[in-house]
Amino acid sequence: MIADPLAEELSLEFVRPGVSLLDPFCGAGRILLAGARNGANCVGVDVNPLASLLVQAKSANYSVLELEEFLCEIERSALPRASRGKNMDLGTERKVAWFSEDAIDEMEGILTIINSKARSKAITLLAGAVLSATAREVSYCRNDRWKLHRIPANRRVQHKPSAKAVFCRRFKVAISEIKYEPFVMGNCKAVVGDCKNLKASLEAANESGQFDVVFTSPPYGDSKTTVQYGGMSSICLSVISNINGLEHLRMSGKEIDTRCLGGRVSVAQESAPFMHDRFSVYWRGATSNSASLRVYQYLSDLEKACLEIAGQVRRHGQVIFVVARRRVGGWRLHLDCFVEDVLSKLKFELRLKYDRKIKRKLLPCKVQRFARLKSLRKHKGNTVPTMSREFILIFEKTN
Ligand SMILES: C[S@@+](CC[C@H](N)C(=O)[O-])C[C@H]1O[C@@H](n2cnc3c(N)ncnc32)[C@H](O)[C@@H]1O
Repeated sequence: MIADPLAEELSLEFVRPGVSLLDPFCGAGRILLAGARNGANCVGVDVNPLASLLVQAKSANYSVLELEEFLCEIERSALPRASRGKNMDLGTERKVAWFSEDAIDEMEGILTIINSKARSKAITLLAGAVLSATAREVSYCRNDRWKLHRIPANRRVQHKPSAKAVFCRRFKVAISEIKYEPFVMGNCKAVVGDCKNLKASLEAANESGQFDVVFTSPPYGDSKTTVQYGGMSSICLSVISNINGLEHLRMSGKEIDTRCLGGRVSVAQESAPFMHDRFSVYWRGATSNSASLRVYQYLSDLEKACLEIAGQVRRHGQVIFVVARRRVGGWRLHLDCFVEDVLSKLKFELRLKYDRKIKRKLLPCKVQRFARLKSLRKHKGNTVPTMSREFILIFEKTN
């Protein structure tokens, strides 16, 4: 995720009140929110329905009194008696348990209270966003913010957080943030769509038109490198899509991952040498590298997305990309150079490029490349540094 201060800094510099801003990979909406605070009319697109929920929840108009009354209602109510998931459809996608039975009971109780009466759109959105974070916190997923794995069996037995306590704590924090959040002057809209078909996704949401600014931070590599990205989102979506009014948010982890850049590898092994010739300046891995087809597919998808993005920018409009050089299959992927070359072919002029240290990094500085292969753990190439710098590229559309 792009750091909030960077989104704010760049918005202050490049976003003027009244401009239209598009973030085609909007994620949790940091860029959109920063743009809207400067008075822009912002549209975000993301394949992940959770992203669209978060953007809507972050930019909704709230009555603090209504939120406090809702919180009291949850705090005071004895959660309905356990029905062990009978009233909550978690889908059939997962082969292993991600929640304890107690966690399921409590989340089901919270859902019953939320659905017990008609709720305003604002309450539905915030309850959905908070319940999603609650589901993540009470699940068996490791909580150290790095790759998303299930905690081991012995720790699962001891893992007994109360979903009601977590939900109430998080809802309280949300209320206090809403009370003191800077005023959002512009608008924010989030569309569930695929950037490879950006025009169609925007048209389906009645958002066709030429944007003044595109400001975005795409994924820095294929989704398979981000362990359980779709998987974790779909676990949360399977819980919150039980809220009346949020049923449409259900999406399987496989579907999310497949739609992400590089998610569906259709590059045939036979075309690998040709792809290698095209892309080896950006990624030096050989065609025999086990990541090669994924990387080629990812770069082909990003190229397609750039082409679609280019079509949505007005003449002299600006495009701001924040990217980094992720290591895939042992080699750095020079995404900044790739984006620069693709956009220059599309008649965008690079006005400014600089790099800086990634601040408040959540990843470890070094990871073990062969952590799962005991025999290679002592191999000298096992410990590799992760991304430490981000690149900011600012283009202008010249034709
Ligand atoms: C680096 S994150 C963006 C983070 C965002 N800038 C923020 O700070 O919250 C990349 C996002 O791109 C989305 N994404 C990946 N492939 C996509 C595609 N083909 N179309 C639209 N969004 C996609 C992912 O779901 C993810 O939310």
